[in-house]
Amino acid sequence: MKNRSLISITDYSREEILRILELAADFEANPNQPLMTDKVVATLFFEPSTRTRLSFETAINRLGARVIGFSDSASSSTTKGETLKDTIKMVSNYADLIVMRHPLEGSARYASEQSRVPVINAGDGANQHPTQTLLDLYSIKKTQGTLENLTIFMVGDLKYGRTVHSLLMAMSHFNPTFYFVAPKEMSMPKEYLRFCQQKGIKYYEQSDISNLETADILYMTRVQKERFSDPMEYERVKNTYVLRNSMLDNTKDNLKVLHPLPRVNEIADDVDANTKAYYFKQAENGVYTRMAIIASIMGLK
Ligand code: CP
Repeated sequence: MKNRSLISITDYSREEILRILELAADFEANPNQPLMTDKVVATLFFEPSTRTRLSFETAINRLGARVIGFSDSASSSTTKGETLKDTIKMVSNYADLIVMRHPLEGSARYASEQSRVPVINAGDGANQHPTQTLLDLYSIKKTQGTLENLTIFMVGDLKYGRTVHSLLMAMSHFNPTFYFVAPKEMSMPKEYLRFCQQKGIKYYEQSDISNLETADILYMTRVQKERFSDPMEYERVKNTYVLRNSMLDNTKDNLKVLHPLPRVNEIADDVDANTKAYYFKQAENGVYTRMAIIASIMGLK
């Protein structure tokens, strides 16, 4: 992993994924490890973020490195017409590592081809969000004791939700059974269904939240308003699924509700007090997992 960019979750083998999860557990037990006092990390966010940017910057600070960058491309020379290529070439002269979020699918791969230093994809359009996936896997392993043979419900915007695309691919190493719960406007894209078929992964598609009694993980997602070209279509589907506390009554004891966050309306507030709600702890796990990713790319662990 040393000096390698992380663009897609498929860049990591099963063994490399498990190694990151082991390192994350080590960082959770001991989060202040100033291994990078001589390093600078750039966080370039061309698209809004709360958790990903702040957990990366917390991870960088806890590792003792310094952070440069921007949280809004409006404050960068992109507004003057500077290309992504030139921006990346410049920043890779300043920093030892680049963390980038960008609305265009494929932009992270392109940036890694222009950069002298490794690039970590913090989300590229509707494509991939590999560091979210690694923190999701950490959360799943921590709560279930294993990643193997789990039944995972993915609910909501499976078309534009990049986190479910990355998670599906990562879980393919661990013999999952998937339930894809979405209306047809937001169904799992065919390429990911084909991926499941090629890997021999069992999956079911349904339009309502039923059969929940079989679930180990209920992965809720937000309808991605910003990716709809037709605002009327967003209005039509935005409240399709709302998880309420009573819907968890007959579920397995080990069930955990995950959500990459932010939530809008898809998880009612009354779920938060249920011990099966894990999404805020999941977001905290992002710090330890991102420390593990950075430390391994910098060759420090
Ligand atoms: N999960 C996630 O990517 O959240 P942010 O958009 O707040 O970074």
